[in-house]
Amino acid sequence: MTTKASATLAKFFADKNIAKTYSSAERATSPPARALLLQAGLHSPGDGSYEILDNACGTGVVTMALIQAFKGKEEQLKVVCGDFSPRMVEAVKERISQVDGLQAEARELNGQAMEIEQNRFTHVLTNFGFQSFPEPLSGLRESIRVAKPGGTVGMTNWITAGWVPAFRLAVSRIPGAPSPLQDPLPFMTRTNRFFDVAWTRQQLEAIPEVDPTTIQIEEHTFVTTLKSEAEISELVTPMEGMLSVFTSDWSEEEQKACGEGRLLESIKQAVREEPDLVWKSLITTVRKRA
Ligand SMILES: C[S@@+](CC[C@H](N)C(=O)[O-])C[C@H]1O[C@@H](n2cnc3c(N)ncnc32)[C@H](O)[C@@H]1O
Repeated sequence: MTTKASATLAKFFADKNIAKTYSSAERATSPPARALLLQAGLHSPGDGSYEILDNACGTGVVTMALIQAFKGKEEQLKVVCGDFSPRMVEAVKERISQVDGLQAEARELNGQAMEIEQNRFTHVLTNFGFQSFPEPLSGLRESIRVAKPGGTVGMTNWITAGWVPAFRLAVSRIPGAPSPLQDPLPFMTRTNRFFDVAWTRQQLEAIPEVDPTTIQIEEHTFVTTLKSEAEISELVTPMEGMLSVFTSDWSEEEQKACGEGRLLESIKQAVREEPDLVWKSLITTVRKRA
């Protein structure tokens, strides 16, 4: 199902400058990516060979963390970086080409319908991908399909992104903007509840190929402090392309009240007042039945 929000997200990730503007988001997605590797047992790889899919790879955050984890054991690692956005694929191709000895390829891949045979990867990892998919659950099922029997499927999903409190405060200060805002924000619940432990567990348990005894769902929290105007701008400015996702259920008048840069400026002001941003996510790993 393509909703207005998912169409806007697709457009946002297809933008020609996305890889450049997205690089500031790596500050938010890298720490959970490292925690995902830890939970998937990849922080200190054993013997044997690993073929790993970095699904919805963006600029390659998971792959960069894998390169660190496999230092000195590069010959055991093969990576496929897949993303729907040709721009992201271009950027990650360039990035992996600069790493000596890395066996990796980057390709366009729709995570909801991959042109990849079943039972292929030892690990399929999706770091903050599914919440941008039109149908996150079909993405999850597809990941399980392409994992080897006994292989690991891992994902991270936001419970709350660090900018959300600033967004709420910013909106509450704009006359004519909706008040109060729902919690969680409606765009978070449009197609999934991957921020919810019980819901996530239930979805996984409903997939026959999943070994339910291996489901592990952990909360991960960290803080980034934005110390300068440049850092604030780096975080807030790219949000402009996403505003219609966050505000898609508002009336025309409410959207107008926040227009002409008012909402972005108000978010920046809220971050100046509270520069510590708290990022909370769920880290989920599971094994496919052997
Ligand atoms: C929030 S970014 C996460 C990127 C990266 N994994 C990270 O942790 O920084 C979401 C990514 O999902 C990709 N994406 C959205 N829909 C997709 C789909 N159906 N199949 C594959 N990738 C998709 C976007 O192009 C974007 O690169």
